[in-house]
Amino acid sequence: MQNNLPTPYFMIDEDKLIHNLEIAKKLKELSGVKLVLALKCFSTWGVFDVIKPYLDGTTSSGPYEVKLGYETFGKETHAYSVGYSEDDVKSVVGMCDKMIFNSLSQLDAHRHLVEGKASIGVRLNPGVSRAGQDLADPARQFSRLGVQEDQLNAELFDSLDGVMFHMNCENKSADDFISLLDSISQRFGTYLDKLDWVSLGGGVFFTWPGYEVEKLAQALKQFSEKHGVQLYLEPGEAIITKTADLVVTVVDVVENGMKTAIVDSATEAHRLDTLIYNEPATIGEATENGEFEYVIGSCSCLAGDQFCVAKFDKPLEIGQRLHIIDSAGYTMVKLNWFNGLKMPSVYYKRSNDDIQKLNEFGYDDFKRSLSQWSVH
Ligand SMILES: Cc1ncc(COP(=O)(O)O)c(C=O)c1O
Repeated sequence: MQNNLPTPYFMIDEDKLIHNLEIAKKLKELSGVKLVLALKCFSTWGVFDVIKPYLDGTTSSGPYEVKLGYETFGKETHAYSVGYSEDDVKSVVGMCDKMIFNSLSQLDAHRHLVEGKASIGVRLNPGVSRAGQDLADPARQFSRLGVQEDQLNAELFDSLDGVMFHMNCENKSADDFISLLDSISQRFGTYLDKLDWVSLGGGVFFTWPGYEVEKLAQALKQFSEKHGVQLYLEPGEAIITKTADLVVTVVDVVENGMKTAIVDSATEAHRLDTLIYNEPATIGEATENGEFEYVIGSCSCLAGDQFCVAKFDKPLEIGQRLHIIDSAGYTMVKLNWFNGLKMPSVYYKRSNDDIQKLNEFGYDDFKRSLSQWSVH
Protein backbone atom coordinates (compact mmCIF):
# COMPACT_ATOMS: atom_id res chain seq x y z
CA MET A 1 0.00 0.00 0.00
CA GLN A 2 2.77 2.40 0.98
CA ASN A 3 4.06 2.67 -2.58
CA ASN A 4 0.73 3.86 -3.94
CA LEU A 5 0.40 6.82 -1.61
CA PRO A 6 0.71 10.16 -3.39
CA THR A 7 3.96 11.94 -2.58
CA PRO A 8 5.18 13.99 -0.86
CA TYR A 9 4.33 12.46 2.51
CA PHE A 10 5.78 11.81 5.93
CA MET A 11 5.63 8.24 7.24
CA ILE A 12 6.05 7.87 10.99
CA ASP A 13 7.03 4.38 12.08
CA GLU A 14 5.51 3.02 15.28
CA ASP A 15 8.21 0.43 16.00
CA LYS A 16 10.93 3.07 15.77
CA LEU A 17 8.96 5.47 17.96
CA ILE A 18 8.41 2.82 20.61
CA HIS A 19 12.10 1.93 20.50
CA ASN A 20 12.94 5.53 21.53
CA LEU A 21 10.14 5.65 24.08
CA GLU A 22 11.37 2.48 25.78
CA ILE A 23 14.78 4.14 26.28
CA ALA A 24 13.00 7.18 27.72
CA LYS A 25 11.11 4.90 30.10
CA LYS A 26 14.33 3.26 31.26
CA LEU A 27 15.93 6.68 31.88
CA LYS A 28 12.93 7.72 33.97
CA GLU A 29 12.94 4.50 35.98
CA LEU A 30 16.66 4.64 36.72
CA SER A 31 16.86 8.35 37.55
CA GLY A 32 13.47 9.57 38.77
CA VAL A 33 13.61 12.36 36.15
CA LYS A 34 10.32 13.44 34.59
CA LEU A 35 10.20 13.88 30.83
CA VAL A 36 8.01 16.45 29.08
CA LEU A 37 7.80 16.40 25.30
CA ALA A 38 9.00 19.63 23.64
CA LEU A 39 6.13 20.43 21.29
CA LYS A 40 8.29 22.87 19.33
CA CYS A 41 10.08 19.83 17.92
CA PHE A 42 7.16 17.53 17.31
CA SER A 43 3.49 18.22 17.85
CA THR A 44 1.74 15.81 15.51
CA TRP A 45 -0.88 15.14 18.14
CA GLY A 46 -2.41 12.27 16.20
CA VAL A 47 0.27 10.00 17.69
CA PHE A 48 0.12 11.31 21.26
CA ASP A 49 -1.92 8.32 22.43
CA VAL A 50 1.16 6.21 21.71
CA ILE A 51 3.57 8.61 23.45
CA LYS A 52 1.45 9.49 26.49
CA PRO A 53 1.98 6.32 28.52
CA TYR A 54 5.75 6.85 28.39
CA LEU A 55 6.17 10.56 29.16
CA ASP A 56 4.95 12.94 31.85
CA GLY A 57 3.49 15.74 29.79
CA THR A 58 4.48 18.50 27.39
CA THR A 59 6.37 21.76 27.32
CA SER A 60 5.77 24.65 25.02
CA SER A 61 7.21 27.77 23.46
CA GLY A 62 4.07 29.72 22.70
CA PRO A 63 0.42 30.00 23.74
CA TYR A 64 -1.02 27.64 21.12
CA GLU A 65 1.42 24.90 22.05
CA VAL A 66 0.27 25.18 25.66
CA LYS A 67 -3.32 24.72 24.56
CA LEU A 68 -2.42 21.84 22.27
CA GLY A 69 -0.47 20.05 25.00
CA TYR A 70 -3.29 20.55 27.49
CA GLU A 71 -6.00 19.39 25.10
CA THR A 72 -4.31 16.51 23.33
CA PHE A 73 -1.66 15.17 25.71
CA GLY A 74 -2.74 16.13 29.20
CA LYS A 75 -0.71 15.06 32.22
CA GLU A 76 1.70 17.93 33.12
CA THR A 77 1.62 21.04 30.93
CA HIS A 78 4.61 23.37 31.15
CA ALA A 79 4.24 26.83 29.66
CA TYR A 80 7.36 28.69 28.62
CA SER A 81 7.71 31.59 26.22
CA VAL A 82 10.55 33.93 25.34
CA GLY A 83 8.04 36.77 25.61
CA TYR A 84 4.53 36.69 27.05
CA SER A 85 2.02 39.46 26.61
CA GLU A 86 -0.46 39.89 29.44
CA ASP A 87 -3.15 38.38 27.20
CA ASP A 88 -0.94 35.35 26.53
CA VAL A 89 -0.51 34.73 30.24
CA LYS A 90 -4.23 35.09 30.89
CA SER A 91 -5.03 32.72 28.05
CA VAL A 92 -2.79 29.89 29.24
CA VAL A 93 -2.72 30.20 33.03
CA GLY A 94 -5.80 28.01 33.45
CA MET A 95 -4.23 25.25 31.37
CA CYS A 96 -0.69 24.95 32.66
CA ASP A 97 0.84 23.38 35.75
CA LYS A 98 4.04 25.38 35.48
CA MET A 99 4.65 28.84 34.04
CA ILE A 100 8.28 29.60 33.22
CA PHE A 101 9.28 33.21 32.56
CA ASN A 102 12.25 34.10 30.39
CA SER A 103 13.30 37.24 32.27
CA LEU A 104 12.95 38.98 35.61
CA SER A 105 10.95 41.76 33.98
CA GLN A 106 8.43 39.20 32.65
CA LEU A 107 8.28 37.61 36.11
CA ASP A 108 7.61 40.98 37.74
CA ALA A 109 5.01 41.95 35.16
CA HIS A 110 2.98 38.73 35.21
CA ARG A 111 3.52 36.75 38.38
CA HIS A 112 0.38 38.19 40.01
CA LEU A 113 -1.66 36.55 37.25
CA VAL A 114 -0.17 33.13 37.98
CA GLU A 115 0.22 32.97 41.76
CA GLY A 116 -2.04 30.35 43.31
CA LYS A 117 -2.88 28.94 39.88
CA ALA A 118 0.37 27.40 38.61
CA SER A 119 3.87 26.71 39.84
CA ILE A 120 6.19 29.61 38.92
CA GLY A 121 9.67 29.39 37.46
CA VAL A 122 12.20 31.39 35.48
CA ARG A 123 14.68 30.38 32.83
CA LEU A 124 18.31 30.81 33.86
CA ASN A 125 21.11 31.12 31.34
CA PRO A 126 24.09 29.13 32.60
CA GLY A 127 26.42 30.92 30.16
CA VAL A 128 27.78 27.57 28.95
CA SER A 129 26.33 25.25 26.36
CA ARG A 130 26.83 22.36 23.96
CA ALA A 131 24.98 23.58 20.93
CA GLY A 132 27.07 23.28 17.81
CA GLN A 133 26.04 26.21 15.64
CA ASP A 134 25.97 29.78 16.92
CA LEU A 135 22.45 30.28 15.56
CA ALA A 136 21.15 27.63 17.96
CA ASP A 137 23.41 28.41 20.90
CA PRO A 138 21.41 29.69 23.90
CA ALA A 139 24.66 30.89 25.51
CA ARG A 140 25.77 32.91 22.47
CA GLN A 141 26.94 36.48 22.91
CA PHE A 142 24.13 38.85 23.95
CA SER A 143 21.73 35.91 24.29
CA ARG A 144 18.17 36.91 25.21
CA LEU A 145 17.34 33.42 26.44
CA GLY A 146 17.09 33.31 30.22
CA VAL A 147 18.37 35.36 33.14
CA GLN A 148 22.15 35.77 33.36
CA GLU A 149 23.93 34.66 36.52
CA ASP A 150 25.10 38.16 37.48
CA GLN A 151 21.49 39.37 37.58
CA LEU A 152 20.48 36.88 40.28
CA ASN A 153 20.20 37.34 44.02
CA ALA A 154 19.39 34.80 46.70
CA GLU A 155 16.05 36.40 47.73
CA LEU A 156 14.62 35.80 44.27
CA PHE A 157 14.60 32.07 44.96
CA ASP A 158 12.50 32.43 48.12
CA SER A 159 9.50 33.22 45.94
CA LEU A 160 10.14 30.82 43.06
CA ASP A 161 9.12 27.18 42.71
CA GLY A 162 11.57 26.18 40.02
CA VAL A 163 13.95 27.09 37.23
CA MET A 164 14.65 25.91 33.71
CA PHE A 165 18.03 25.72 31.99
CA HIS A 166 18.33 24.85 28.30
CA MET A 167 21.85 24.67 26.92
CA ASN A 168 22.20 21.57 24.74
CA CYS A 169 21.54 20.68 21.14
CA GLU A 170 21.83 17.02 20.13
CA ASN A 171 24.43 16.38 22.84
CA LYS A 172 25.41 12.74 22.37
CA SER A 173 27.85 12.45 25.28
CA ALA A 174 26.74 11.67 28.84
CA ASP A 175 30.14 12.82 30.16
CA ASP A 176 29.76 16.13 28.42
CA PHE A 177 26.30 16.67 29.85
CA ILE A 178 27.50 15.66 33.31
CA SER A 179 30.23 18.31 33.19
CA LEU A 180 27.52 20.92 32.48
CA LEU A 181 25.47 19.53 35.34
CA ASP A 182 28.44 19.79 37.70
CA SER A 183 29.03 23.37 36.66
CA ILE A 184 25.35 24.21 37.30
CA SER A 185 25.45 22.53 40.67
CA GLN A 186 28.57 24.45 41.71
CA ARG A 187 27.44 27.86 40.50
CA PHE A 188 23.70 27.77 41.17
CA GLY A 189 23.50 25.01 43.82
CA THR A 190 22.64 27.20 46.83
CA TYR A 191 19.80 28.75 44.84
CA LEU A 192 18.53 25.38 43.64
CA ASP A 193 18.42 24.04 47.20
CA LYS A 194 15.48 26.38 47.82
CA LEU A 195 13.39 25.09 44.89
CA ASP A 196 10.92 22.26 44.23
CA TRP A 197 11.88 21.55 40.63
CA VAL A 198 14.58 22.14 38.05
CA SER A 199 14.20 21.53 34.33
CA LEU A 200 17.39 20.86 32.40
CA GLY A 201 15.78 21.57 29.03
CA GLY A 202 16.17 19.59 25.84
CA GLY A 203 18.98 18.61 23.53
CA VAL A 204 20.17 15.59 25.53
CA PHE A 205 20.34 12.89 22.88
CA PHE A 206 19.86 9.87 25.15
CA THR A 207 18.34 7.73 22.37
CA TRP A 208 21.45 8.04 20.19
CA PRO A 209 23.01 4.58 19.58
CA GLY A 210 25.64 3.95 22.25
CA TYR A 211 24.49 6.78 24.55
CA GLU A 212 25.40 5.90 28.15
CA VAL A 213 21.87 6.05 29.55
CA GLU A 214 22.78 4.48 32.91
CA LYS A 215 25.55 7.02 33.47
CA LEU A 216 23.21 9.90 32.67
CA ALA A 217 20.54 8.43 34.95
CA GLN A 218 22.93 8.13 37.86
CA ALA A 219 24.11 11.73 37.49
CA LEU A 220 20.53 13.02 37.31
CA LYS A 221 19.58 11.03 40.41
CA GLN A 222 22.55 12.36 42.37
CA PHE A 223 21.82 15.94 41.30
CA SER A 224 18.17 15.74 42.32
CA GLU A 225 19.04 14.15 45.68
CA LYS A 226 21.79 16.68 46.37
CA HIS A 227 19.56 19.69 45.75
CA GLY A 228 16.24 18.16 46.86
CA VAL A 229 14.48 18.91 43.58
CA GLN A 230 12.31 17.05 41.09
CA LEU A 231 14.27 17.06 37.85
CA TYR A 232 12.78 17.40 34.40
CA LEU A 233 14.18 17.02 30.90
CA GLU A 234 12.37 18.47 27.88
CA PRO A 235 13.25 16.08 25.05
CA GLY A 236 12.07 16.72 21.53
CA GLU A 237 14.49 15.28 19.00
CA ALA A 238 15.52 12.40 21.31
CA ILE A 239 11.95 11.09 21.30
CA ILE A 240 11.28 11.19 17.58
CA THR A 241 14.75 10.83 16.07
CA LYS A 242 14.88 8.41 13.14
CA THR A 243 11.16 7.65 13.34
CA ALA A 244 9.94 9.25 10.10
CA ASP A 245 10.84 9.47 6.42
CA LEU A 246 9.81 12.21 4.05
CA VAL A 247 8.92 10.30 0.89
CA VAL A 248 9.29 12.17 -2.41
CA THR A 249 9.21 11.42 -6.13
CA VAL A 250 11.82 12.38 -8.73
CA VAL A 251 10.01 14.61 -11.24
CA ASP A 252 12.94 15.62 -13.46
CA VAL A 253 16.66 15.14 -13.94
CA VAL A 254 18.68 18.09 -15.28
CA GLU A 255 22.39 18.50 -15.88
CA ASN A 256 24.69 21.48 -15.51
CA GLY A 257 28.14 20.24 -14.55
CA MET A 258 26.41 17.81 -12.16
CA LYS A 259 23.22 15.82 -12.50
CA THR A 260 20.38 17.14 -10.36
CA ALA A 261 17.33 15.03 -9.57
CA ILE A 262 14.45 17.40 -8.86
CA VAL A 263 11.95 16.00 -6.37
CA ASP A 264 8.37 17.05 -5.53
CA SER A 265 9.33 18.70 -2.25
CA ALA A 266 11.58 21.50 -1.02
CA THR A 267 13.72 22.06 2.03
CA GLU A 268 12.45 25.61 2.28
CA ALA A 269 8.85 24.46 2.60
CA HIS A 270 9.02 20.94 4.06
CA ARG A 271 12.36 20.41 5.77
CA LEU A 272 13.45 23.88 6.70
CA ASP A 273 16.29 23.02 9.08
CA THR A 274 18.21 21.41 6.20
CA LEU A 275 18.45 24.91 4.81
CA ILE A 276 18.72 26.97 7.99
CA TYR A 277 21.50 24.88 9.50
CA ASN A 278 23.05 23.83 6.20
CA GLU A 279 22.85 20.18 7.24
CA PRO A 280 22.45 17.88 4.23
CA ALA A 281 19.68 15.29 4.40
CA THR A 282 20.26 11.54 4.08
CA ILE A 283 18.55 9.54 1.35
CA GLY A 284 17.55 5.98 2.26
CA GLU A 285 18.27 4.62 -1.24
CA ALA A 286 21.76 6.16 -1.51
CA THR A 287 24.93 4.07 -1.22
CA GLU A 288 28.30 5.27 -0.01
CA ASN A 289 30.25 4.22 -3.09
CA GLY A 290 27.53 4.32 -5.72
CA GLU A 291 28.67 5.10 -9.23
CA PHE A 292 25.91 7.62 -10.00
CA GLU A 293 26.05 10.95 -8.18
CA TYR A 294 23.20 13.46 -8.01
CA VAL A 295 22.26 16.67 -6.33
CA ILE A 296 18.86 15.97 -4.80
CA GLY A 297 17.29 19.25 -5.77
CA SER A 298 14.17 20.89 -4.41
CA CYS A 299 11.13 21.88 -6.38
CA SER A 300 11.22 25.47 -5.09
CA CYS A 301 12.46 28.56 -6.91
CA LEU A 302 15.32 29.20 -4.46
CA ALA A 303 18.56 28.62 -6.37
CA GLY A 304 20.42 26.97 -3.50
CA ASP A 305 17.51 24.86 -2.27
CA GLN A 306 18.72 21.26 -2.26
CA PHE A 307 18.42 18.30 0.10
CA CYS A 308 21.91 16.88 -0.40
CA VAL A 309 24.36 15.32 -2.84
CA ALA A 310 24.06 11.53 -2.89
CA LYS A 311 25.42 8.52 -4.74
CA PHE A 312 23.37 5.63 -6.08
CA ASP A 313 24.13 2.22 -7.54
CA LYS A 314 21.81 2.84 -10.49
CA PRO A 315 20.83 6.00 -12.38
CA LEU A 316 17.79 7.72 -10.89
CA GLU A 317 14.63 7.63 -12.97
CA ILE A 318 11.76 10.03 -13.26
CA GLY A 319 8.86 8.67 -11.20
CA GLN A 320 11.16 6.93 -8.73
CA ARG A 321 10.56 7.45 -5.01
CA LEU A 322 13.22 8.48 -2.55
CA HIS A 323 13.08 8.32 1.25
CA ILE A 324 14.58 11.31 3.04
CA ILE A 325 15.25 9.70 6.38
CA ASP A 326 15.08 11.10 9.90
CA SER A 327 12.54 13.75 8.97
CA ALA A 328 10.31 13.94 12.04
CA GLY A 329 11.86 16.62 14.28
CA TYR A 330 11.41 20.31 13.49
CA THR A 331 9.84 19.45 10.11
CA MET A 332 6.07 18.99 10.43
CA VAL A 333 6.00 21.88 12.92
CA LYS A 334 7.65 24.20 10.36
CA LEU A 335 5.75 23.27 7.18
CA ASN A 336 4.84 26.24 5.01
CA TRP A 337 3.19 26.93 1.68
CA PHE A 338 6.07 28.67 -0.12
CA ASN A 339 5.70 28.46 -3.92
CA GLY A 340 2.27 26.85 -3.55
CA LEU A 341 3.87 23.42 -3.47
CA LYS A 342 1.80 20.43 -2.46
CA MET A 343 2.00 19.97 1.30
CA PRO A 344 3.16 16.52 2.43
CA SER A 345 0.47 14.33 3.98
CA VAL A 346 1.30 12.64 7.26
CA TYR A 347 0.89 8.87 7.77
CA TYR A 348 1.56 6.51 10.64
CA LYS A 349 2.71 2.93 10.14
CA ARG A 350 1.55 0.76 13.00
CA SER A 351 3.55 -2.21 14.27
CA ASN A 352 1.14 -4.54 12.43
CA ASP A 353 1.96 -2.70 9.14
CA ASP A 354 -1.43 -1.01 9.05
CA ILE A 355 -1.02 2.50 7.61
CA GLN A 356 -3.18 5.29 9.04
CA LYS A 357 -3.58 8.79 7.65
CA LEU A 358 -3.07 11.59 10.20
CA ASN A 359 -3.22 14.58 7.91
CA GLU A 360 -3.86 15.58 4.34
CA PHE A 361 -3.80 19.04 2.79
CA GLY A 362 -5.27 20.49 -0.34
CA TYR A 363 -5.57 23.67 -2.34
CA ASP A 364 -8.22 25.04 0.05
CA ASP A 365 -5.76 24.91 2.96
CA PHE A 366 -3.19 26.81 0.89
CA LYS A 367 -5.73 29.44 -0.12
CA ARG A 368 -7.07 29.89 3.41
CA SER A 369 -3.57 30.32 4.81
CA LEU A 370 -3.20 33.43 2.63
CA SER A 371 -6.52 35.23 3.12
CA GLN A 372 -9.92 34.31 4.36
CA TRP A 373 -11.67 37.43 3.19
CA SER A 374 -11.21 39.89 0.30
CA VAL A 375 -11.11 43.62 0.90
CA HIS A 376 -14.50 45.25 0.39
C1 LIG B 1 13.68 25.44 26.12
C2 LIG B 1 13.79 24.24 25.23
N1 LIG B 1 13.41 23.03 25.69
C3 LIG B 1 13.48 21.92 24.93
C4 LIG B 1 13.94 21.98 23.63
C5 LIG B 1 13.95 20.72 22.81
O1 LIG B 1 15.23 20.40 22.36
P1 LIG B 1 15.54 19.06 21.57
O2 LIG B 1 14.49 18.89 20.53
O3 LIG B 1 16.89 19.29 20.98
O4 LIG B 1 15.52 17.96 22.59
C6 LIG B 1 14.36 23.21 23.11
C7 LIG B 1 14.87 23.31 21.73
O5 LIG B 1 15.22 24.34 21.21
C8 LIG B 1 14.27 24.38 23.92
O6 LIG B 1 14.63 25.59 23.45
